[in-house]
Amino acid sequence: MTNPGAARKPIVFSGIQPTGQIHIGNYFGAVKRWAAEQDKYENIFCLVDMHALTVPQDPAVLRDKTFETAAILLAAGIDPAKSHLFVQSDIAEHGELAWYLSCVASMGQLNRMTQYKEKAEKQREGSRVGLFTYPLLMAADILLYRTNEVPVGADQKQHVELTRDLAERFNSTFGETFVIPQPVIPPVGARIMGLDDPTKKMSKSTQKAGHAVGVLDAPDVIRKAVMSAKTDSGTEIRFDPERPGVTNLLSIYMVATGSSQEEAEARFEDKGYGDLKRTVAEALIEELRPLQERYRELREDAAALSTLLTASANAIRPTARTTINTVKRAMGVGH
Ligand code: AMP
Ligand code: TRP
Repeated sequence: MTNPGAARKPIVFSGIQPTGQIHIGNYFGAVKRWAAEQDKYENIFCLVDMHALTVPQDPAVLRDKTFETAAILLAAGIDPAKSHLFVQSDIAEHGELAWYLSCVASMGQLNRMTQYKEKAEKQREGSRVGLFTYPLLMAADILLYRTNEVPVGADQKQHVELTRDLAERFNSTFGETFVIPQPVIPPVGARIMGLDDPTKKMSKSTQKAGHAVGVLDAPDVIRKAVMSAKTDSGTEIRFDPERPGVTNLLSIYMVATGSSQEEAEARFEDKGYGDLKRTVAEALIEELRPLQERYRELREDAAALSTLLTASANAIRPTARTTINTVKRAMGVGH
């Protein structure tokens, strides 16, 4: 939260869809780092449930996943005393700004979004209008809070570029209104690959068993997934781009234990794949154990979690309102 005595910290906005299961790629590649770097920024974590609606959802599952995702972030160390953590649909200004932006963006701009094209590929006529206008809601999320930085996977970079273009167009047409945000893409080396196919990144949308390790997975589920991970021919255990399976397991060992590359290789010198896999599984179980314990405590008190999310939304809403009022004045609506 803001500290009036200090120089203003950069504002970082992270949007997380409350769908699928948060896996160790999300955890090591994003959530754990966000928690560790909370003091450096003014952090805004938004559970984007309205974005989730762009594809069909079971209402009960969506609501449950929203609580689940909030509890995982808190259990991973996101501290509500330092960071905002709220649900997108609690703040009506997100949808409101998305409308104003839809009157600034062109059809051509949205037509160029590759994610929409991929998602709508099979049934363009049947896909939801919201899937097409999704980037405008994302732009609204970012622009409402005068965001400086947006940490995103490479697949979302184009949406942040669109956000920048819209903010620039708006500012030049209607006068200085929006802060221009920067996308921040994590380095490729920070990626965890799928256990079943170490040439593809571990992904929320792949449902296959043995692909990912979820942060809430029980110890025996983790053991089973890691023990059946795809490895490569050869026996030596070292980092080697030609042997993505072993490299991925060593990388997971590194991030789960905080070891360096040299330490990881030394640990498994003269050892076999069985030993590597067993050690990686136990390291993950140990790393995730405290998170899972805190998670269970948080989920037991649904009312407290709901109160926390509401309080955070109430605290940040005035910022969103101020932006909307500026936008309305600039565009000539309202009185
Ligand atoms: P997503 O699951 O695509 O919504 O991504 C949420 C966050 O997790 C983004 O910041 C991604 O960069 C990060 N992330 C997703 N998958 C991985 C992965 N396999 N390895 C490392 N980071 C990941
Ligand atoms: N579109 C993002 C995704 O699918 C989620 C998201 C919504 C987001 N709004 C955002 C990410 C704002 C960063 C900033 O992963």
